[in-house]
Amino acid sequence: MRFDIITCQPDLLESPFSHSILKRAQQKGLVEIHIHDLRQYAVNKHGQIDDYAFGGGAGMVMMIEPIDKCISELQADRKYDAIIYMTPDGQTLNQGIVNQFSLLENVIILCGHYKGVDERVRQHFVTHEISIGDYVLSGGELGAAVLADAIIRIIPGVLNDETSALTDSFQDGLLAPPVYTRPAEYKGLKVPDILMSGDTPKIEQWRFEQAVERTRQRRPDLLSE
Ligand code: ADE
Repeated sequence: MRFDIITCQPDLLESPFSHSILKRAQQKGLVEIHIHDLRQYAVNKHGQIDDYAFGGGAGMVMMIEPIDKCISELQADRKYDAIIYMTPDGQTLNQGIVNQFSLLENVIILCGHYKGVDERVRQHFVTHEISIGDYVLSGGELGAAVLADAIIRIIPGVLNDETSALTDSFQDGLLAPPVYTRPAEYKGLKVPDILMSGDTPKIEQWRFEQAVERTRQRRPDLLSE
């Protein structure tokens, strides 16, 4: 899968893709991540990519022309399955949306800044608008990193033990059950006996019951969906 991320803050995106699972996914050739600095498509030699809002009001608006130039250049080389705009007024991200995006081949992620992008970009270029939650970030970059991370980790072959993505919270509509590791007892705090029993069917049943109970307590909304 190929990600082209368009941003006016490319430095912000360097670190998230340079470590651990996301780095390995690229090294294994399963994922390509290309970061594009919007200022390289600026409308003048001063690097301008934003301007005042027509009609007045505080805050700058990202201009259509640099975004059009960047997207057009990318589209000249390949077809894109989705052009995703990161914005707090988009559809709230969840595991179901992540699963659907993970089936795509080429996606563009556009990071907003300031007061957002000229509405014509949203109307004529963008195919999906995604928010990572009901709060406002300084820009779309951290949201783009969250979205790409969630997608990449479920691409087959990215995680060594594929079942570990399948048993994630939300994959079956439930939160994940509690997990324990050694030691079996720490300062009098014991691991549940069932997990030490070696009885795999019983352990699976216990995990399922714990997942249901945890979901009922913490996220009852998931059970009624
Ligand atoms: N940009 C600013 N806030 C955001 C949010 N909550 N989700 C995605 N992109 C954003």
